[in-house]
Amino acid sequence: MHTIPDPDSPQTTIERITLLYAMEAEGMPLVERLKLTEQPAVDPNLTQRHFAGTVGTVSIDLLMNGVDPRCGTDRIGTDAATLAGFIAIRKFAPDLVINAGTCGGFQARGGCVGDIYVSEGDCLFHDRHIALPGFALQARGQWPVTPAKHLAAAMGAKSGIVSTGNSLDTTPEELAFFAQYRVAAKDMEACAIAQVCGQCGVPFVAVKAVTDLVDHPEPASEAFLRNLRTASALLSESMERGIRWLGAHPRRVGDL
Ligand code: ADE
Repeated sequence: MHTIPDPDSPQTTIERITLLYAMEAEGMPLVERLKLTEQPAVDPNLTQRHFAGTVGTVSIDLLMNGVDPRCGTDRIGTDAATLAGFIAIRKFAPDLVINAGTCGGFQARGGCVGDIYVSEGDCLFHDRHIALPGFALQARGQWPVTPAKHLAAAMGAKSGIVSTGNSLDTTPEELAFFAQYRVAAKDMEACAIAQVCGQCGVPFVAVKAVTDLVDHPEPASEAFLRNLRTASALLSESMERGIRWLGAHPRRVGDL
């Protein structure tokens, strides 16, 4: 029988942190800010790039998904995210996993390009439709994140609900879902990693920078490409503040 470990271990002191990024453009600015150094590949069959270093009291392992060798594009989406989450937990035994990256935001919820969101509540999947009895929860995901109001304050970030799917654009049905669940950040990885962390009993937080507005007529792809560098730079500033706050003195999961 499988039991799900209790991820709610507020007394755990955070000494080992894993940072998971999908895209190199999102992750490299923090690698440079924290002067992390590249390590050997985590597995000969996987494309992830591994960087590591120490910031005060915390050791950092940062994984970026690497590229699909067939087309040279970064591996984004839930399959690569699940794989990275699981290999990172097995290899690094982190006390905390942070999935950082970019997202679509929502004018209706006060979002602007460049805003940074720290996850709150449950992470959701918005593009899983399984009209079979009993499958609704699995389809919706609803994997809890670790409350992190103090970390959000240290980062100068907003708090919001993150929802994950495997497409950059949005259907009318998904817009209704986002309104129903008051989603603030639409991404392609967080809920997949929240699920792995939930199953493994590892505290999880997502940090997302807005590149485009989902409820705006401009196609997401155009705004995303225009704003990726700026949003990633802002993300790296917030992430550096958060990591330095975490490394300033030993902190427990319950203090996040
Ligand atoms: N990452 C950045 N913008 C996004 C969007 N609109 N949807 C999904 N992931 C994103």
